[in-house]
Amino acid sequence: MMSKQELRIGLIGCGFMGRTHSNGYKRVPNFFPDLGYTPVLKAVCSRSEEKVKAFAEQWGYESYETDWRKLIERDDIDAVDICTPNNMHFEIAIAAAQAGKMVLCEKPLSRTLEEGKQMVEAVESAGVKNTVWYNYRRLPAVTLAKQIVDSGKLGKIFHYRTNFLQDWTINENLPQGGRAFWRMDAEAAGSGVTGDLLAHCIDLAMWLNGGIKDVSSVTEIFVKQRMHEETGKMEDVKIDDACIFHCHFDNGSLGLFESTRYARGHKALFTFEINGEKGSLRWDLHDLNRLEYFDNSDESTVRGWRSIHVTDGDQPYMNKWWVPGLSVGYEHSFIHQVADFLESVEKAEECHPTFRDAYETQKVCEAVISSAKNRRWEDTDVEWNNK
Ligand SMILES: NC(=O)c1ccc[n+]([C@@H]2O[C@H](COP(=O)([O-])OP(=O)(O)OC[C@H]3O[C@@H](n4cnc5c(N)ncnc54)[C@H](O)[C@@H]3O)[C@@H](O)[C@H]2O)c1
Repeated sequence: MMSKQELRIGLIGCGFMGRTHSNGYKRVPNFFPDLGYTPVLKAVCSRSEEKVKAFAEQWGYESYETDWRKLIERDDIDAVDICTPNNMHFEIAIAAAQAGKMVLCEKPLSRTLEEGKQMVEAVESAGVKNTVWYNYRRLPAVTLAKQIVDSGKLGKIFHYRTNFLQDWTINENLPQGGRAFWRMDAEAAGSGVTGDLLAHCIDLAMWLNGGIKDVSSVTEIFVKQRMHEETGKMEDVKIDDACIFHCHFDNGSLGLFESTRYARGHKALFTFEINGEKGSLRWDLHDLNRLEYFDNSDESTVRGWRSIHVTDGDQPYMNKWWVPGLSVGYEHSFIHQVADFLESVEKAEECHPTFRDAYETQKVCEAVISSAKNRRWEDTDVEWNNK
């Protein structure tokens, strides 16, 4: 058997994403045995020693740190994986790039466009490999949608419609800030649903349908004040609870985006639909193995929406898993991103979305926030190159 090269991982932040990424690193060697690189879980970092020690034991990390700077200084780490809240992405990514480490960063890339710009400059001037975890691209049904769009089967695209709906912040007694509710604190998160949820919708939309040219948006804060976990005082809420925007894409199509944390009954409803001259596609995270496809060239008597169960070995990633008909889940998007990252290291290619790609998504997020604030259309200045 060909001997494998090791890619020694240092992961920072052991919450929700720390778990999904660790699972990705652990599963890849079993299911992608042909890769030339294998991840080694060298070290994990979080601030609480008790928690990080338990996490290291549970997931099989060789060691742990409680100060992320120490992890970055270590010469037995090749790649730094940032799974911390958004306010820590900037500092960690820049320090890791300057130390010559590869950087994998959770989304959104940054809180602001200015932070994102400096992060792109840091990885590019250091010449280190980088990627951002817009993981939904790597669900087989979503990757198949990309292949269908790129094949030209939909023809000219007219509409792109997407939403990401949740309901977990309706309770007005929830606090903001602190370890559990950093998403509600503008200082830690940067923005609300725009950076948290719409960033996913925007990344997928531009990957599937090209650059977004300009946007017009509205945002709303439904609960105006919440107790801040760190100060103990009632403070103004500064994140967007809900955001709706429409836009023009570079290809002339129209986009409609909606996200909220106030859609009672929806926990993580993420959908997109694309309407073209010759056909349409639609996808729903709650039924993530299915892609619905309408082909207008079908014989009229049997024409209709096909529900494609994307589990066949001919379909993206599925020859790595079970047998046709058997499903994969949410966690596989991260496993696939790890596999693609390792392959990109082996082939010395970029692993999209790179920091630069994610910076373009950040431009749209910033334009969306600014459009709502200024009550006018905003140009995004997006330069979308990620095919
Ligand atoms: N790709 C996705 O679908 C997806 C889903 C959820 C979250 N995210 C992103 O992942 C990131 C983390 O989100 P999460 O849900 O895992 O958050 P979380 O709150 O569950 O975990 C954050 C972790 O970071 C640690 N941390 C915070 N500050 C730290 C510091 N200074 N040094 C070391 N560790 C520190 C915390 O202790 C915790 O372990 C965010 O940027 C978020 O936007 C992405």
